[in-house]
Amino acid sequence: MVKGMIVGAIGAVAAGLAAFYLVAATGHFPANADAQPPALEKWIARKALAAAIAREAPKNPNPVAETDANLIEGIKLYAVDCAVCHGAADAKASHIAHGLYQKAPQLAKYGVEDDDEGETYWKLYHGIRMTGMPAFRESLTEDQLWKIVLFLKNMDSLPSAPQKAWDAVPSLDKRGGA
Ligand code: HEC
Repeated sequence: MVKGMIVGAIGAVAAGLAAFYLVAATGHFPANADAQPPALEKWIARKALAAAIAREAPKNPNPVAETDANLIEGIKLYAVDCAVCHGAADAKASHIAHGLYQKAPQLAKYGVEDDDEGETYWKLYHGIRMTGMPAFRESLTEDQLWKIVLFLKNMDSLPSAPQKAWDAVPSLDKRGGA
């Protein structure tokens, strides 16, 4: 009885894998980026991401002091490495941001000010698998990453000098052929 159930279960898994292979091998598995992610895919991906962050994100406060100089350095780093996908202060998406699967949020509009800084640090350090969000652990130092995190946390309430620097980051909106 138990043996029969085990053989049955193994058979069902094998049949499932074979069906999956056939769907993929005959070009019926969606490989395009110009699609809306199905609800199930989104749900599983969000759950996995939240669980990994809850387990691994640093719990310490931001080690970088909240000064104008550090905020401005964070903005300068953001302009080079992030704005192409996450936009400038006008929150207008670039062609690249527009074409990504998953879409890159325009952070001036859909910011992460309410998230824990450790969570944002984790996303910058490790990236987000199967999205365009890169891992920056090998390109930026911990100090640089925490400065960007500081900027993102305070993006909607910047003091005047950092606000000026943020407003000066060029718009990435190239639609219209400019
Ligand atoms: C090539 C495009 C690309 C670049 C460059 C990029 N990102 Fe992302 N990023 C994404 C995408 C796509 C997502 C959405 C992932 C998802 O749906 O889970 C994302 C997600 C995020 C999130 C989570 C947003 C949220 O609402 O939870 C943060 C924060 C973030 N990126 C910050 C940055 C920072 C800071 C940089 C630069 C150091 C950067 N990203 C560079 C594409 C990019």
